[in-house]
Amino acid sequence: MRLLIKNIGTIVGIDQSGRERVAGADMASVGTLDDAWLVAERGIISDYGQMSRLPQIDADETIDAGGGMLFPSFCDSHTHIVYAGSREQEFLDKINGLSYEQIAKRGGGILNSADRLHAASEDELYRQAMERVDEIISMGTGLVEIKSGYGLSTEDELKMLRVIRRIRETSPIAVRSTFLGAHAVARDYIGRQSEYVDMVCREMIPAVAAENLADFVDVFCDKGFFTVEETERIMRCGAKYGMRAKIHANELDISGGVEAGVRHGALSVDHLERMGDEQIEALLGSRTMPTMLPGAAFFLSMSYPPARKMIDAGLAVALASDYNPGSSPSGNMRMVTALASIKMKMTPAEAINAATINGAAAMGESQRYGSITRGKVANMFVTRPMPSLAWMPYAYQTPVIRHIVLGGKPIKTLQS
Ligand code: NIG
Ligand code: FE
Repeated sequence: MRLLIKNIGTIVGIDQSGRERVAGADMASVGTLDDAWLVAERGIISDYGQMSRLPQIDADETIDAGGGMLFPSFCDSHTHIVYAGSREQEFLDKINGLSYEQIAKRGGGILNSADRLHAASEDELYRQAMERVDEIISMGTGLVEIKSGYGLSTEDELKMLRVIRRIRETSPIAVRSTFLGAHAVARDYIGRQSEYVDMVCREMIPAVAAENLADFVDVFCDKGFFTVEETERIMRCGAKYGMRAKIHANELDISGGVEAGVRHGALSVDHLERMGDEQIEALLGSRTMPTMLPGAAFFLSMSYPPARKMIDAGLAVALASDYNPGSSPSGNMRMVTALASIKMKMTPAEAINAATINGAAAMGESQRYGSITRGKVANMFVTRPMPSLAWMPYAYQTPVIRHIVLGGKPIKTLQS
């Protein structure tokens, strides 16, 4: 299948440098080409150029972009979209003054989702998750990481991960999966946290690996959840089975999770609402991607991560949605880029880099996804004509996406 997209006002996110990530001052620019065409062949971006020099192309399908902009699909490197039901009761509790930690302590939060997940069949979970998958596709996401972590028993963690595998097999979106058995201590193990960690290492990780269900391993390393020592133990166990780490760190406290992630070569450390200079220092010179989830800071009314400080220090940063029922019930990556600009003072170009190529890098996938590059997977979306790149986060609620292409094929969605 050969797809031609013509009359593109501007291609955004062009990168032929081969770089794995965009860091520091380089984040402020994105490669662009005005008045352009692009061809995707057998799922891969094969070429692009200027309309004034459009070669004769024998296309199976043609999209007329009508002067709209073409972006690489968002690469959302942190989600929990496989879950059962919803938690708006806790949303009301929060309105009435309880904190995320207080709700968790009362047995709400993650344990509430674990109870619901336990009661749901694999088919029902898949059905609910696919609604969210279709929703994020319609909002421009083309590569997504999905975590387990609402199972908290070997059987239910495997159930979640099998649902993630089924999404990967049946949806046009590209999926990477993460085992997050250490998301919370299961109800049956309350007061016996070290036994729970033993089970994660001795039983869950080998079982997950035996079915090849996870690319990565994650731990909620934070106050009231798992300690640095436990996190390190689980990272070591995961590494034995080829799972690189992606760590939840510094959401509730300066937890030591950032430094632990760096020490163990984690692919990313995520959240970072609490960051000091030492944590930024620890990240400099490492290959660990600091990943910020402003949707969670917004929804929980927390302080936002110090994005400016991190970029100005020379770091590459990524943005992700954290789509989950407790702290971020939205997978809208455009909204995430708007929050990054409005609340964290990231320029629109910085936010786009953080939500595309650096997001892909946080999944170890930036050689195949995250920019408009000859040879990369043809995952992209075309907008209506916009006056400039900045208009996208500025007019943050106006629907803009007109066409979505995944794996080189146009996708029919809720919006297009
Ligand atoms: O990334 N912080 C830990 N985990 C999720 C929230 C999970 C939940 O509340 O269900 C997060 O915010
Ligand atoms: Fe999360």
